[in-house]
Amino acid sequence: MSKRLYIETVGCQMNVLDSEMVVADLKQHGYELVATPKEADTLLFNTCSVREHAEEKIYSALGKLRQTKERNPDKTIGVMGCMAQKDQKLIFQRAPFVDLIVGPGQLQQIPTLLENIAAGKGRQLAVSLGRKAGSQDTIRRSHETFDPLRDPSMRPTPFQAYLRIQIGCDKFCTYCVVPMTRGPEQGRNPAQIVAEAQILADQGCVEITLLGQTVNSYRHTDEEGTVTRLSDLLRQLSEIEGIRRLKFVTSYPKDMTEELLETIRDLPKCSTYLHVPAQSGSDEQLKRMKRGYTVADYMEMMERIERILPEASISSDFIVGFCGETEEDFQKTIDLVRRCRFKNSFIFKYSVRPGTKASERLEDDVPEDVKNRRNNELLDVQNEISAEDNLKFIGQTVEILVEGPSKRGQKQPEESPLVQMMGRTICDRIVVYDGNRRQAGEFLPIEVTDVSSTTLVGRVKTVHSGPELFQLQTLDR
Ligand code: 5AD
Ligand code: SF4
Repeated sequence: MSKRLYIETVGCQMNVLDSEMVVADLKQHGYELVATPKEADTLLFNTCSVREHAEEKIYSALGKLRQTKERNPDKTIGVMGCMAQKDQKLIFQRAPFVDLIVGPGQLQQIPTLLENIAAGKGRQLAVSLGRKAGSQDTIRRSHETFDPLRDPSMRPTPFQAYLRIQIGCDKFCTYCVVPMTRGPEQGRNPAQIVAEAQILADQGCVEITLLGQTVNSYRHTDEEGTVTRLSDLLRQLSEIEGIRRLKFVTSYPKDMTEELLETIRDLPKCSTYLHVPAQSGSDEQLKRMKRGYTVADYMEMMERIERILPEASISSDFIVGFCGETEEDFQKTIDLVRRCRFKNSFIFKYSVRPGTKASERLEDDVPEDVKNRRNNELLDVQNEISAEDNLKFIGQTVEILVEGPSKRGQKQPEESPLVQMMGRTICDRIVVYDGNRRQAGEFLPIEVTDVSSTTLVGRVKTVHSGPELFQLQTLDR
């Protein structure tokens, strides 16, 4: 049997990492990755459930495969990730030609399940237990973290990697499906995390992004009762030679402790970018969302960050049009954005998620056109702030890790000597400059000459900074 695998991934960084892991695992079982569904005989969709729109897109992509499957019944079609856990058998009903459904806590079973399908054992389903389907321990064990050997060729760049430190979530915000799809919060064993980081460093990785739904709540207790927190982990990971940058996402406001901030300040490898979603600027809404903090608590956290890490850049998430949100509530969110001056904000329109507290107890009473307007209004305020704040970079020199050609650079001809390249600063600002494809993976000083709300534009800073010398330097590399 030929084993040509196509995988499509939507959703968060966790999903990107899960796909990397599944592909690495399947490669060890003789699969080769192909670029289009047409060439493949196994097609996997790694799915997201966080908003309805994401699910609709997947169901519509699946719908398009109905005929393909009729014509080629031997093709295997699989759905993995959060939607597989949430909808389970329903996927077989909505898309009867699907062969495989695998939740995010069962990914290690994929090779075996595919073998079963190939052996004619019929369609396969592997999902974790629901949050009330047994003892805490049994439920926990049914959500397994899946982190086999790392394969650098599976990553967008070989010099950057995600590293999972925590799975699941126990915060149960009323709008959110994640505690159901990804199960109970569990901190991975620190020794395993450090060993995996060492493997990544040995593979040439210079930047590691630690992943967790509430990454700064990370906690692991060993048999002797020794507790490891995120700050301890950062200290251990900082020791690894070769690793030059450590990032972590996503943070939970209440766990942004003084001790963690001081650790970041004292470890030069730690990124000063903090993604700490506020979700709303209204206490009433925060209560309905069951976020566990008030606006005053959030502002206190901002002051703590400002005091200990004045150079930090902070980004946030907001949900507009959540149940019961009045114009006044929304204005309070705008006020919060103006007061906090986030580097950027990710703004989402509330989408009812079956199985959540909000779907059972609160009415989705904000009309779609109001959600749209609030979404655009908040985005405009944030963009204005981002553009203003970026102005301070003009004339400054920033150090970036070059990631590769920018979107524009990717369209430029392969043979052109200068292409637009893109990289990021330690505080996660996107920087573009004209350079050379081979600079990907290097740390370069860039003198910023222009900015927009999303991007800094600059040129490589050289000791003898004249335009001719700069060109020679970048061409020579
Ligand atoms: N509707 C809209 N946005 C949501 N998010 C989570 N659940 C929902 C939902 N039901 C947003 C939150 C979270 C981000 C990842 O997605 O802002 O921080
Ligand atoms: Fe969802 Fe809240 Fe957990 Fe974030 S903290 S994953 S929003 S339940």
